[in-house]
Amino acid sequence: MTYETLIVETVGRVGVIRLNRPKALNALNSTLAEELRTAFAAFEKDEEIGCVVITGTERAFAAGADIKEMAPRSFIDNFSSNYMANWDSPARSRKPTIAAVAGFALGGGCELAMQCDLVIAADNAKFGQPEITLGIVPGLGGTQRLTRAVGKAKAMDLVLTGRMMDAEEAERCGLVSRVVPLADLMTVAMQAAETIAAMSLPTAMTAKELVQRAHELPLAEGLRFERRAFHALFGTDGQREGMQAFLEKRKPHFNQP
Ligand code: CAA
Repeated sequence: MTYETLIVETVGRVGVIRLNRPKALNALNSTLAEELRTAFAAFEKDEEIGCVVITGTERAFAAGADIKEMAPRSFIDNFSSNYMANWDSPARSRKPTIAAVAGFALGGGCELAMQCDLVIAADNAKFGQPEITLGIVPGLGGTQRLTRAVGKAKAMDLVLTGRMMDAEEAERCGLVSRVVPLADLMTVAMQAAETIAAMSLPTAMTAKELVQRAHELPLAEGLRFERRAFHALFGTDGQREGMQAFLEKRKPHFNQP
């Protein structure tokens, strides 16, 4: 499969998607969103893939939705086509996902990163929701996921002023899992991805789903759901291999064909 706006490859058990519209700072347009759906769907189906990394260039992860594409649109264009409703491929992925962010992650770029399970940032990363400066509001989760990630105080600050925050501030407020030197970004992101992909895939998918539910369920329901999942994993090869390996003082070998 060849893509116009992405570079997609497989490294061991890790699927890697690089946004590839460098001249437009990887602005997200309809073609890119459609290609992301295709790439994520292929990785989702592939049993040999245990984690997906999404990244951009050193200058930009993505500088937002493509303003040139958006500018002529009307309310009815957006409403009729439910514009951007399916620009949520990382959020829909049942497999763990990592955003490796360097440079600008603005508007839809920040929102794309927030759809991923881990955000690993280079020290030059800049996050923001500048939509208000364009006379609009975030449309891909910037008011909802950002507020859940960083709390009301910081979310209001970013969404209402449109200012950017650097990687250090993003880590301090809980948007980012780790900050690393730019030169190490892909090495660290790939190491994290390989570590996750080496775990039992059903277990990793379950762990991801459980943490996601923490945002959506009341505590008592979340705890019940967690306990059921905990019980259920005792029916998997992963549990047998993981515990047997511990008892035999060896490394576990999950996801064997
Ligand atoms: N859409 C389309 N093109 C974009 C773009 C975007 N979001 N961001 C940057 N570009 C293009 C520029 O138009 C420029 O292209 P040309 O050379 O053809 O003019 C090229 O990328 C380089 O950009 P700049 O010359 O502006 O680079 P800079 O270093 O001076 O500034 C920047 C970088 C601060 C990121 C600036 O480009 C910028 O402010 N971009 C827009 C950021 C933004 O507002 N994002 C939110 C979009 S709305 C949204 O995302 C809605 C949503 O919730 C989904």
